[in-house]
Amino acid sequence: MYNFDKIIDRTGSDDLKHGVLQERYGDANLLPLWVADMDFETPQFITDALRRRLDHSLFGYTMMPKGYWQQVAGWIADHHAWNVKEEWMTFIPGIVKGIGMAINVFVKPDEKVIIQPPVYHPFRLTPLGNRREVVYNPLKEIDGTYTMDFDQLEQIADEKCRMLILSNPHNPAGICWDKQTLQRLAHICHQRGIIVISDEIHCDMAIFGNRHTPFASVSEEAAQCSITFGAPSKTFNIAGIVSSYSIIPNDETRHLFYSWLEANELNEPTIFSPIATMAAFTPEGEAWRKEMLAYIEGNIDFVIDYCAKHLPKIKPWRPQASFLVWLDCRDLGLNHSLLNDLFVNKARLALNDGEMFGKGGEGFMRLNIATPRAILQDALERLSKAVQLS
Ligand SMILES: Cc1ncc(COP(=O)(O)O)c(C=O)c1O
Repeated sequence: MYNFDKIIDRTGSDDLKHGVLQERYGDANLLPLWVADMDFETPQFITDALRRRLDHSLFGYTMMPKGYWQQVAGWIADHHAWNVKEEWMTFIPGIVKGIGMAINVFVKPDEKVIIQPPVYHPFRLTPLGNRREVVYNPLKEIDGTYTMDFDQLEQIADEKCRMLILSNPHNPAGICWDKQTLQRLAHICHQRGIIVISDEIHCDMAIFGNRHTPFASVSEEAAQCSITFGAPSKTFNIAGIVSSYSIIPNDETRHLFYSWLEANELNEPTIFSPIATMAAFTPEGEAWRKEMLAYIEGNIDFVIDYCAKHLPKIKPWRPQASFLVWLDCRDLGLNHSLLNDLFVNKARLALNDGEMFGKGGEGFMRLNIATPRAILQDALERLSKAVQLS
C-alpha cells in the first residue's frame, strides 16, 4: 500500500543528513547513509493530524491532550507485553536530552557513568560534556554478535559508579537483548545502587521474527533500578518533531527526576509532539510500521546478498532490530584513515565510522539502510567499484 521506493528530494528542508556533509566529511556531494533517520516520507496520517492543528491558526500555550498517556501505555502493552502505569510516565524533549538531564539529577560531579562500547556515541559524549567520568565495559564479540561482559562489569563497577546507559535494542549492532542478559545486568546494577537508563528508542522495530524485551519488565530488580526512555521518533520518522517519554516505576527515583523536570518545565511538550505521537500509535500506524519493517528486511537481505556476491571482504551483521547495519570491514585490511578514504573519497559515501562508537568499533562502518532500494543499490555499486580499484 505504501511506496517506500519513492525518492524524496530533501533539498531545502534543512535536513541534518545532507546539511552537514561539508562540515563533517569535507564534501557536500556525498551520498549520505549516516544519521539515523529514514529517507521515507513521514506517513500521511501523521502529516494530516499536524495539518488539522495548523488549520486552527492559533498556537498559544498548550497542554497534553486527554487520553495521551493511556494511548502510549496501550501501545507499549500491546507491542511489548509490559504494563506501564500512567503515573510512571512523563514527556521528555528527546532521549539524548533525557540522558543529560538524568546525569545532572543522579550523578554527582565526582561520580561515574558506565557504558558498554561499541555503542551510540552520545552515551559517551553526554556524560563527558557534563564533566562526569565515563567507565567502559566493552562488549565481547562472539560469532558475529556482541555479549555483555558481566565479570568485567563486576570488577569495574565501584561505589562511584551511579549510572549505566544501556542501548536496548543495541545501536549500532541491532541486538535485541534477551531476558536472561537483562536480568543479570539488573541484578548487578540493583545490588550496587546503579541506575540503568534503558534507551529503547529502537524498540518498535524488531525484525526477522525477533522480539524486543523492555529492560524494566524482566524482574523486580530491573523495574526498581530502571529509567526507560522511548519515542515514536525513529519508527515513524518524526525525529524533528521531538516527542519522547520516560518511564520510572521506582517512587523515589521518579519523584527526584520528575520534580526536577517539572521545576525546569522540561516535561512540557510543544503543540505538535503529542499530536504526531497520537497519530502514530494507532491501528493505521501499526499497518504502516509493519509495511515499513518488511521493506527494511528486504533492504537488509539486499545488502547481505550484495556483499556476499560483490564485496566478500565486507561482512554485514544481520540486525535483529532497526535500520542500521554494522558492516565488518576488517578483512579489507585498511587502517582507520584508509577505510574512511575508501568510503568517503573513493566511493563518495557518508556512513558513520565505527570508531566513533568506541572500543570494538575499529574496522566497522555503520550503514543506514532506511532509504529507497535504488539508492541503496547505487551506494553498494559505488562501494564495490571503489574496492575493486583500490
Ligand atoms: C540509541 C539511540 N538513542 C537516542 C537517539 C536520539 O534520540 P533523540 O533524538 O530523542 O535524542 C538515537 C538516534 O540515532 C539512537 O540511535
